Amino acid sequence: MAQVLSLFPTPLMQCPQLIDATQAQSLRERFIREAALPNHRDSALAHSQIIDPADDPALAALARRLLPEVVEMGRLMFGETLPWAIKEMWANVLQTGAHQAVHNHANCFVSGVVYLSEVDASAQTRFIRSLGGRDFVFSNSHAGTVTGAFNADKWIGPTPAIGDAVLFPSSLLHEVPPNRGGLRVSIAFNAIPRRLDAWGYGLSFSS
Ligand SMILES: [Fe+2]
Repeated sequence: MAQVLSLFPTPLMQCPQLIDATQAQSLRERFIREAALPNHRDSALAHSQIIDPADDPALAALARRLLPEVVEMGRLMFGETLPWAIKEMWANVLQTGAHQAVHNHANCFVSGVVYLSEVDASAQTRFIRSLGGRDFVFSNSHAGTVTGAFNADKWIGPTPAIGDAVLFPSSLLHEVPPNRGGLRVSIAFNAIPRRLDAWGYGLSFSS
């Protein structure tokens, strides 16, 4: 019997109810107040300052909750249970109509989002396989195409509930399409391992 394998898949970790509704509400109310930095591409999207969770008790508690999941993502990505640090966190508050442009996160390895509000179906985090480089792109996309794991360009997960989190490799492109719902509030974070070692060629990272 023929068998199809998924070679070299990308890990994306969903963590339902990473924090409870009370914790989410407390962080949501705080960061609606504190997110005062307008995004340079969309003024209806505001960010908080970038915060080292070691300097902030509420975010330190959130980081402690996230860290085991980050370590497990790191084990999947690098084949070893390494010491990891959540280097920074920041909040994103999208008004109705706001979007977040396609981006990834430089100089880190695991990133993620903790959802502090409901997320309208229009504004779910959308992951993108690639925008292409300098090569020609060949595609077969039309009304008769069936999209599956091997030909998809984009992926949207199930609608997150308040308190859910998602973790992904920092290199993975993602965006938030225009928000047709109410206020969308989330906390994003970046994490780094202390050290990577490829047969003696080591790199150390500091937070
Ligand atoms: Fe992001």
